[in-house]
Amino acid sequence: MRKVLVLHGPNLNLLGEREPNVYGKVTLEEINKELQELAKEFQVELRIVQSNHEGEIVETIQNSRHWADVIIINPAAYTHTSVAIRDAISAVNVPCIEVHLSNIHAREGFRQASHVSPVAVGVIAGFGKNSYLLALKAATSIILAEKKK
Ligand code: DQA
Repeated sequence: MRKVLVLHGPNLNLLGEREPNVYGKVTLEEINKELQELAKEFQVELRIVQSNHEGEIVETIQNSRHWADVIIINPAAYTHTSVAIRDAISAVNVPCIEVHLSNIHAREGFRQASHVSPVAVGVIAGFGKNSYLLALKAATSIILAEKKK
């Protein structure tokens, strides 16, 4: 079975109570449950990790390099600050999809720049929890395209 790593960055464990006007009322648990249901439909195995620590995110990316066919990552605030996470993604040679619940381009100036986007296959932002579900659909397309090669 094909494998996808889903990586949630800092503060996303507080979804549901954190700034619901920006991120909605959905919890991370609900997002993960919907992802698992969709993954079953797509016949993809998911590994889901949330971390508030930059180094742990770097290590999770590194450790997935012989396992994951695709990485879906919401680097959260590290999107805008972390060269280390960007370098980890380019180091592992696994296609990566960047996800955001909110449309970062419609928000404060500091959120409009991403260190991760230049090393991602694509970016999905602004659709709330559906950003993740759309990313899983995109991951499946990448996997199917790889298989045909
Ligand atoms: C976020 C956007 C980031 O700017 C912010 O720091 C987050 C969440 C999003 O999913 O919309 O924590 O990545």
